Amino acid sequence: MTTSRASIHGYWSSRVMFVFAAAGSAIGLGNVWKFPYMAGESGGGAFVVLYLICIALLGIPVMMSEVLLGRRGRSSPINTMHVLAREENRSTSWSLLGAMGILAGFMILSYYSVIAGWTLAYVVETVSGTFSGVSSEEVGEVFNQLVSDPWRLLFWHTLFIVLTMVVVIRGVRKGLEMAVRLLMPILFTLILVMVAYALVQGDFYAGLKFLFTPDFSKITPDVVLKAMGHAFFTLSVGMGAIMMYGSYLPDDASIGSTSLQVALADTVVAILAGLAIFPIVFANNLEPGQGPGLIFNTLPLAFGHMPGGMFFGFLFFTLLVFAAWTSAISLIEPAVAWLIERFSISRITSSVICGLVTWAVGLGTVFSFNHWNRIKLLDGTPLAGKSFFDLLDYLAANIMLPLGGILICVFAGWVMSEASSRDELRLKHSCVYGLWRLLARYVAPAGVILIFLHVLGIF
Ligand code: PFF
Repeated sequence: MTTSRASIHGYWSSRVMFVFAAAGSAIGLGNVWKFPYMAGESGGGAFVVLYLICIALLGIPVMMSEVLLGRRGRSSPINTMHVLAREENRSTSWSLLGAMGILAGFMILSYYSVIAGWTLAYVVETVSGTFSGVSSEEVGEVFNQLVSDPWRLLFWHTLFIVLTMVVVIRGVRKGLEMAVRLLMPILFTLILVMVAYALVQGDFYAGLKFLFTPDFSKITPDVVLKAMGHAFFTLSVGMGAIMMYGSYLPDDASIGSTSLQVALADTVVAILAGLAIFPIVFANNLEPGQGPGLIFNTLPLAFGHMPGGMFFGFLFFTLLVFAAWTSAISLIEPAVAWLIERFSISRITSSVICGLVTWAVGLGTVFSFNHWNRIKLLDGTPLAGKSFFDLLDYLAANIMLPLGGILICVFAGWVMSEASSRDELRLKHSCVYGLWRLLARYVAPAGVILIFLHVLGIF
């Protein structure tokens, strides 16, 4: 009963390219920048355990559901949801799920691009020898100077948005496939090199202990929420990016095994990033809970002291820019595709509009690290003390992505007929289908709802 819908935006050239592209979307700043600093802020091992549980029980079923819906609908998330809801004789208001995803994509990309801008700035700092032989205080000073200068941040943010839009304009196949195929394996190798350095020069035992010895007294409702939000963020699920990529997936590819491969690659890269960073943190008496500056204050120390450090540092930050780039593209692709479908405009016009909007929202994040760093929003509420950047990240990652994830599972598990989902997933073993359905219908939605209730103090 395969549907005869076709994607007007094109297809991946093969199943493997989908895995590369989806892994390119999943592996990004979330793994190398965000995971270590969140683990650092939330007590290490306890956060890691919760995050791994969330990946397995919530993230993977949501990812499979998202690819399933995307491939069946073959258009942008808004239109995919519209078409599929009509097919099942349900309300077309389901397309609002796609709209929420597009909004989340704008919100995330607006700050993601500023952080990717830091990475670009560090490529230049490393090649100009700024970090040769520096002390940890000097490294910290370089970072503080960067974030306290709005003009520099603005410059790098603008450059990153332009880079992203250039690839989006070229279309997924020509722009994206080439980049991910080549760069992801090199990034992976380089992270291994960093782990090897940390093993020899860092306090590896302290790093291991921090990441893998859970101290359950550190688990608060907020840590649980952050671990869940991060599982969604790092797999790029809950907002339609993977649904969009699924819509370009050839009919004969297996959704189950491709999703597992993507989730596994993503998790391995995050853990390796942690193993590269924390041994350096502990060997240099740095603060693991220092927040978003963590990798920018630790890795340059390693590069500044290792043989060939300038070269490795240059390569590392360059590859991190590429990893961020391939993720950024997927954050904006649903919006670009929807504008094309809705207003029949060209890909260029659509990309320029989306790029300008994201750039403008990003100014809020640029200023949250300097001019506005003392303006904290919403005093007296649970969101008190958050800057504009914190707020965007909190709302998008911790609330919107998990909410989107539940709705995706509810649609795939409850609204869509069993015949349709079975047909689209085409899992070889019936028990694997049964497991997916159990997770998508009950475990993932109930898990997210319980965590939300826990944070609200109701459970
Ligand atoms: N998964 C990306 C990362 O870990 O950096 C970020 C991301 C991309 C989140 C795409 C959401 C998304 F739709």
